[in-house]
Amino acid sequence: MKNLQIVEYEDMLLWCLEELSLDWGDHFWKSDEILRSIAAGDKRLFFVLVDSQAAGMIFFSIASLESELLFLFIRDNFRHQGLARRLMKEYFATLKTLKIDSLFLEVRESNTGAQALYQSLEYRLIGRRPRYYRDGESALVMKKEL
Ligand SMILES: CC(C)(COP(=O)(O)OP(=O)(O)OC[C@H]1O[C@@H](n2cnc3c(N)ncnc32)[C@H](O)[C@@H]1OP(=O)(O)O)[C@@H](O)C(=O)NCCC(=O)NCCS
Repeated sequence: MKNLQIVEYEDMLLWCLEELSLDWGDHFWKSDEILRSIAAGDKRLFFVLVDSQAAGMIFFSIASLESELLFLFIRDNFRHQGLARRLMKEYFATLKTLKIDSLFLEVRESNTGAQALYQSLEYRLIGRRPRYYRDGESALVMKKEL
């Protein structure tokens, strides 16, 4: 792997969010919603940079005893190189320092790639939310204990 850095969002890194959000388009979160949530104080955002290029990000919420993974994204040309796994490991390490041990996420039923990643990281299926997304697709709910 080339030069890889994982860094937390700060104003100077707004360009990373802008570049990444151009790639994910309208399908997921809007970047201004992400920025508002960070400013509100209960959500955090980490980027993965490869040779100083924005390659992906992880966005999650923090509550007193639990955390929800809200969005994990790796740019197309950086996929299948273990970057999502690296971001998830950094996420777990951050939660450990905060003594948070219940982790949740929702994932589209059709997103078998992401489900495979989460299963390999010991998330287990705990429920299903029918027609959860605006387009009518159902969500699977997964949980991990750290
Ligand atoms: C899902 C996503 C984050 C994976 O990123 P990635 O950097 O390619 O993932 P990694 O290289 O770290 O893969 C780790 C593991 O995940 C699994 N995996 C990842 N993508 C997969 C795919 N398309 N099909 C099957 N398994 C996949 C594999 O188990 C893989 O382990 P392996 O490389 O040892 O086989 C990326 O495809 C993405 O950004 N997708 C669009 C956004 C999204 O769906 N986010 C998740 C829901 S919020």
